[in-house]
Order: sequence, then C-alpha cells, then structure tokens
Amino acid sequence: MSDQASENKEIQFTLDGQSVYARPGETVLGVAKRMGIEIPALCHHDAVSPYGACRLCVVEVFWGKRSKLVTSCIYTPWEGDVVETGSDRVCRTRRMVLSLLLARCPEVETLQDMAREYGAAAPFDTAEEDGSERCILCGLCVRVCDEVVGQHAIGHAHRGMERAISAPFADRSDDCIGCAACVYICPTGALHYEDVDGRRTMVELQTDVPLFPCRVCGAHFAPVEQVERVRECLKLPEALAETCPDCRGREIRGIMEEVLAVPRSKA
Ligand code: FES
Repeated sequence: MSDQASENKEIQFTLDGQSVYARPGETVLGVAKRMGIEIPALCHHDAVSPYGACRLCVVEVFWGKRSKLVTSCIYTPWEGDVVETGSDRVCRTRRMVLSLLLARCPEVETLQDMAREYGAAAPFDTAEEDGSERCILCGLCVRVCDEVVGQHAIGHAHRGMERAISAPFADRSDDCIGCAACVYICPTGALHYEDVDGRRTMVELQTDVPLFPCRVCGAHFAPVEQVERVRECLKLPEALAETCPDCRGREIRGIMEEVLAVPRSKA
C-alpha cells in the first residue's frame, strides 16, 4: 500500500508536471502555495483548521487512466499521485461552483472577479434579486472565533436553504468580545462593525462593547476585554498594552532612539 503525507515522512508526488514533496500532514494546497502555484481557496486560512466548504480549491488526482476531484485544502497526497490544478475538469467544476456562489451572492466583488477569470455566470438573471446576501457560509468566522479567539460566539444555524451564520438562538451574543476577528477574516465582506463614541457594535451579531481609551492620546482603539486578554496572553507591560498602535509605535521609536544615542563604552 502506498504512503500518505499524514505519516511521519515526506511524500513524493507530481504537481502540474513537477516532481514535488509534501511534508508530513501537508495538503496539496499547502504544497502548491509553497511552490507558487495559485489555487483559488475562499474558505481557507492558515490560522484556522481546514473545512472544505467552498469547493473552489478542487484539483484532479490521476492514477493511470482513472482520476477524481478532491478538495486540495483538505487532501494530503499519496506517494506517486499525479495532481493537476488547472485541468479541463477542474476549470469546469470551479466554473459551476462560482455560478452557484454568484447566484447566492451576486454583489460580492471577489466572486465577480473570480467568475470573470473562469468565465462563469449566475445560472439565472440576478438583476431582480435584492443582492444583499454576502455570506457564502464558508465558516471562517466561526472557526476563527472558536479556534483563535477561543470564544464560540457564532456558529452555523439551520439547514439547507435556511443555513446561516448566527449568534446562538439568533440573539445578541454574550460571548462576543467585539474583537472583530470574524470581520477581518471574512472573504466576502459579510460581517461589519462600527466604532462610535467609545463603543463597538458588531452589526450582525448585535454585540455592543466598550472600547479602551489609549493611556497616551485618549483615542478608543480596541475592546476593553481584548486589551486585557492581549496583555495577559503576551505578558505585556501595561504601558504597552494600554497604548494605541500609533502611540505605541512612537514610544518604541523613542526608546530605540534613546538606546542608540547612548555612546558605546570604550573597551
Ligand atoms: S478552500 Fe478548499 S474547499 Fe474552500
């Protein structure tokens, strides 16, 4: 039986005609990135575990005359695999996936750009649709909240056509600390926040939290709970943790200038 890259050894396989290796546990998408081969991957981010939701990262794996499509963000190659990232079958499949995503979210620029690249169009005229839906249900927001922030403030709700991203029971989430990691990681701009008068509102999650005022300039720069967590996790001195990025940069530059200005003692 052949080996797979999930074991404790490197695996040799062929990627777009080149002989390459995968490190233990490395996926085809990971190898492709390392080799500078571009594969569209909307639901993937290195900071969180792979999920295989968007299906845009499909590639074709050949064994002799047989082949199958796999999602490269979760597929760890086997010794001797021959992988094509841009075969006709791959492009046809990406075109179909993009058509479906466009039908759901016709106004999302990232999807429009990708659709142009692959020659895809929504399967019906979307001019009459309200076009406000921007969520492709990739789950990146759920994973970053869960795995990076450690909060579980949002999740998937309902099934089928009703499936959606939501706070528990579609209510205001007490677990949300307002860090906005979900907003930053969302590939389609489906989530938003607003900072007004020293408070942050997570628009879709209905959370409203106080922001921390910078101890130097007084500008509100991050949610109070996030500042406290960062200070605790990174063991930062209060003077650094409670200072906004601009003032922090100025303070660090000042310290560096002082240090560099000290004349060296003669040996
Ligand atoms: S990136 Fe692989 S399925 Fe979305």
